[in-house]
Amino acid sequence: MTFVNSSIEVDNLSKVFQGGIRAVDGISFSVARGEIFGFLGPNGAGKSTTIMMLTTLLRPTSGRAVVAGHELRQEPDAVRRSLGYIPQELSSDDYLSGAENLYLQSGFYHIPKKEFRRRKEDLLELVGLTERANDRVETYSGGMRKRLDIACALLHRPQVLFLDEPTLGLDIQTRQQIWQYVRRLRESEQMTLFLSTHYMEEADSLCDRIAIIDNGRIKALDTPDALKKELGGEVVTMQYDRPGPEQMMQLRECLAALPIVRQVSVNEDKCVAAVSNSGNAVPEMFGCARNLNIAVRSVALTMPSLDDVYLSHTGKNLRDSGGNGKKQAGPHPHSPHHPHTMRR
Ligand SMILES: Nc1ncnc2c1ncn2[C@@H]1O[C@H](COP(=O)(O)OP(=O)(O)OP(=O)(O)O)[C@@H](O)[C@H]1O
Ligand SMILES: [Mg+2]
Repeated sequence: MTFVNSSIEVDNLSKVFQGGIRAVDGISFSVARGEIFGFLGPNGAGKSTTIMMLTTLLRPTSGRAVVAGHELRQEPDAVRRSLGYIPQELSSDDYLSGAENLYLQSGFYHIPKKEFRRRKEDLLELVGLTERANDRVETYSGGMRKRLDIACALLHRPQVLFLDEPTLGLDIQTRQQIWQYVRRLRESEQMTLFLSTHYMEEADSLCDRIAIIDNGRIKALDTPDALKKELGGEVVTMQYDRPGPEQMMQLRECLAALPIVRQVSVNEDKCVAAVSNSGNAVPEMFGCARNLNIAVRSVALTMPSLDDVYLSHTGKNLRDSGGNGKKQAGPHPHSPHHPHTMRR
């Protein structure tokens, strides 16, 4: 079966590991061609397991998936040829240079020598490693290694690229650089990108759509803006000019009584209100202050953050879910770049 407009189709996919751990529990979704699609979830949510099933490295327990028009179980070789995979752990060989790693990778895909030399130059340029191409990878920084991994995964020109936590443990500057490469790939190659992350800023700024995953299940799936809107309108923060404590208590009551205000909290000189329509709420909130002779100093309007969205769907705060201090492993014993490795 071929899906013309979708690049990835997942139908009720599950993975139960030996011992009964249900890592992925009946997920279904589709990713359009040229879309940047993100899996956002905490440690152990099932992100890597999903990616490993979709890249044929792990056999699903049940369900089906189509990647780049090829059914996972029926045409695993075709699936492998059409995708690139950048695993969570760093995967290039430390003892080889960047260029040698690329050469090794080209052998897996039988890329002719002349063609390889051309692509190598382009890719090294793309990830900004031309100058360091002949240095051993052990002399690279974490960000440079990740960029080399990206170059390796792109060598055979995949239609779909899977990135498992591409910026884990990298500083914000390097992270933004990698976001740039990802955006560039979508623009120049119309590549479909599937990435997992537990960084909200990453999902928010990079992804067209996000699936929030927890305990192997998709809790919500939409564009970042729609997810935030669904949570309920906007947040108005109003600051007042030296109000008395008595005035603030009265103000709180007045604001809470407004039907347009869903929730309000006040401190000594400020209130934060979740409102369903800021255009109407702000004048009404001004009215409350005026009636109590309180002068307004400033008004700020914000959207709920993805953190709020995440909390409402999982009952957990993503920032507290750990994982930032996680160690980046060295080269994988069975290099996951190798297109024919299969784990069970
Ligand atoms: N080979 C395995 N055998 C048994 N259980 C496993 C195996 N691999 C993963 N799991 C379990 O499956 C669940 C999902 O793990 P997975 O690695 O997919 O999570 P993740 O979302 O990628 O988390 P992280 O953010 O830590 O990378 C976890 O409970 C994990 O312990
Ligand atoms: Mg993982």
